[in-house]
Amino acid sequence: MDLDKLRADFPALCQDNPVAYLDNACVTLRPHSVINAISDYYTHSPGCGGRSVHRYGTAVSKSIGKSRKTLAGFFNAPSVNEIVFTRNATHSLNQVAKGLHWDKGDIVLTTDREHNSNLVPWLQLEEEHGIDHRVVPSKDDNTFDMEAFEAMCSEAGDKLRMVSMSQIGNLDGVQVPIRQITKIAKDHGALVCVDGAQSAPHMPVDVQDLGIDFFAFSIHKMLGPSGMGGLWGREDLLNSMRTIQSGGQTVKTSHYDRVEWAKTPSKFEGGLGHFAGMMATGEAIDYLSKLNMNEVHEHEIRLNQIMSRGVKDLDGITIIGPDDAAKRGGICSLLLDESLPAHDIALLLDEVSGVMVRSGQHCVHSWFNNRGYNGSLRASAYFYNTEEDVKRFVDTFSEAVQAFQ
Ligand SMILES: Cc1ncc(COP(=O)(O)O)c(C=O)c1O
Repeated sequence: MDLDKLRADFPALCQDNPVAYLDNACVTLRPHSVINAISDYYTHSPGCGGRSVHRYGTAVSKSIGKSRKTLAGFFNAPSVNEIVFTRNATHSLNQVAKGLHWDKGDIVLTTDREHNSNLVPWLQLEEEHGIDHRVVPSKDDNTFDMEAFEAMCSEAGDKLRMVSMSQIGNLDGVQVPIRQITKIAKDHGALVCVDGAQSAPHMPVDVQDLGIDFFAFSIHKMLGPSGMGGLWGREDLLNSMRTIQSGGQTVKTSHYDRVEWAKTPSKFEGGLGHFAGMMATGEAIDYLSKLNMNEVHEHEIRLNQIMSRGVKDLDGITIIGPDDAAKRGGICSLLLDESLPAHDIALLLDEVSGVMVRSGQHCVHSWFNNRGYNGSLRASAYFYNTEEDVKRFVDTFSEAVQAFQ
């Protein structure tokens, strides 16, 4: 990868005194092509796609169709109809959880490291519909415990309806073996939903090869506009599911006493959409498609190795997850002793040297609460980050730790 050339595409990286942006697990920076596509919508075709037949409407409809096709290609989806635009991965996961029919006692398995977006909807279903949500414990180093998973699948027997797991955790960057998990889940007749918010931006994903049923992703973590996400699902399942937002766009027609539902994806895209966002999504995915996603993954691991080596021996610091950075992608998430206030240090990193990281519980409250930790300080790299960025993080963070101790 030619980093200088890539970085020149990102206006946020081309300012005087560029920041070391290491909060990519939350939201990524956007290239010119994405920013321009947003502005192009408002400037050149500020109409309504999918309904109006005038030239603005037609231009938007065509462009959205193109974005959907690009996404389908990126994930090797068998049909463009299987790509649903949503507001974010949270919306996608809610659509899966609340769109399927549940019987009391149906068992859903997640792990003990899920983002709230892949935990709270299941807890809500437990409260409201009596499903039985169970948590598969990870090994001590936060890696996936296949034996525990298999035992819990067997214990669940024919009550197992759903296995829903993040492919890569935002807490620690640890990846779970989705293909193997899916095989076991399928042997038990369960559906598999993958929270791909942290995997889709960083590694190749082929939904057919994984053998899964649903894949939720977050377009603002993939160079795309804020407030954009997506859901891939098997067409037959999507067509049999209930939409969680009914209204305009979601029906073939309606009568005073009944509706005839549209098919996927229209059925799930109720109301006037974020057209600028959908159009710019095509640009974001085009950009990612030109990169080699295996190289992206390797680059992030190399940067993480520098970060991990640089901080692991500091007093009062524990890296969450396995010691080996190669098992944590681009995420270096640090538990800090009580003497080290994560939010203050994160602020200081930005003020002193323009290093931007995340502090807190990263919406994985359950993991922290269960262990009695306040939170962590998380640095997360992307393909446009340089060795200089991560060294800057290590140096400033080391100085901050010494200053506080
Ligand atoms: C693993 C994981 N799942 C779900 C989400 C929620 O994504 P979104 O903000 O697109 O709803 C995130 C966001 O950080 C995440 O990291």
